[in-house]
Amino acid sequence: MTGPRFQTGAHFAATMDARDPLAHFRGRFFIPKTKTGDECIYLCGHSLGLQPKAAGSYLEQELRDWAELGVEGHFHARNPWMPYHRLLTQQTAALVGAQPSEVVVMNSLTVNLHLMMASFYRPTTERHKILVERGAFPSDQYAVKSQIGFHGFDPASSLLELTPREGESCMRDQDIESLIEREGDSLALILLGGVNYVTGQMFDMAGITKAGQRKGCVVGFDLAHAAGNIPLRLHDWGPDFAVWCSYKYLNGGPGCVGGCFVHERHARAWELPRFAGWWGHDESTRFQMGPDFQPMPGAEGWQLSNPPILALAALRASMDIFSEARLEPLRAKSVSLTAYLQFLLDQQSSPKFSIITPRDEERRGAQLSIRLPGAGRNLCDRLTVAGATGDWREPDIFRVAPVPVYNTYQDVYRFVQHFSAALS
Ligand SMILES: Cc1ncc(COP(=O)(O)O)c(C=O)c1O
Repeated sequence: MTGPRFQTGAHFAATMDARDPLAHFRGRFFIPKTKTGDECIYLCGHSLGLQPKAAGSYLEQELRDWAELGVEGHFHARNPWMPYHRLLTQQTAALVGAQPSEVVVMNSLTVNLHLMMASFYRPTTERHKILVERGAFPSDQYAVKSQIGFHGFDPASSLLELTPREGESCMRDQDIESLIEREGDSLALILLGGVNYVTGQMFDMAGITKAGQRKGCVVGFDLAHAAGNIPLRLHDWGPDFAVWCSYKYLNGGPGCVGGCFVHERHARAWELPRFAGWWGHDESTRFQMGPDFQPMPGAEGWQLSNPPILALAALRASMDIFSEARLEPLRAKSVSLTAYLQFLLDQQSSPKFSIITPRDEERRGAQLSIRLPGAGRNLCDRLTVAGATGDWREPDIFRVAPVPVYNTYQDVYRFVQHFSAALS
């Protein structure tokens, strides 16, 4: 017989932390402090991940080489800048379940989304719609509507939104599939989040891709809240493209460079239109500086500019930690930490809030979204002042995410104590 999975007391949290084989990774990050010098309870890695302590030295290396070598650093830096972005390729491919040629670290998420739509959103009069989730991240909505308009269509008739059933917050798999089945012939593109940024719902990306492709639709994913959070198998699932940022679960730093996946079957799709730049040009002839663009095969062929080395250096510091910790154990800890958070919140049995994130652990990542009707963002602000950081999404959602690489069971325990005190 097994005992209950979780217990309510502080001792339980301390015991779980003492047993956690990943606990030492917390020491590799700077944990923000309160005004009184205590470590914050930082449950906000879904918004901005914490700084790896090694980020400074990764950056200093490049600053030093720049100071000492100037332009020669492109070839003679300790990590030559010319192929620098490739230092991230293997780790990125492993993180999203792709082949190395299918991924590239470049630009930021919305820029990559536009680049992908320039190539993969090819509306016709019969098939011109884009399917998104209702309340998709605003940048995605703006990008999608502007692409529809750019092609001479009207978002009023070309944008289709997935909507949860009346009284529900999350989408049901069978509703997504039947909508795709019903509307598929008019859909040029299905563009969904891997994990919805408001509800924390994880979508069945394999099933959606399959359903979309059965109807001849292009399928893309916004993985802003999925990359570094949940296991991904992009190559096997087979979407056409995916984009993500690296400042959330990937701890690359504010505004850090994003990532992009283009499935192998498009690696040599020279016929696709694309917005070109010199860094996507075949590297063997790039410096001949010819007037005609010849893309590199694979995702790298969508690059525009030479990459920002300093931002990539900071990202490497975090990706090296991911490689060491490995996603599988991180995911196992994440599932447990988030279930523990849900368990402690459930103990409150308060009518003042409800959790809108799916209760099924397979249907969510690290984040829990707590609906607090009438509480206002003031509650979140008070908790931040008290040293417990989550974030607020209007009108009534408080998002918190225990991140397995640096959060602890005691963080979760202390957070719920602060939360219940703030509620009463
Ligand atoms: C789901 C989602 N999509 C898109 C974005 C926009 O990202 P960026 O500012 O890097 O373009 C964000 C930013 O938080 C996001 O959460």
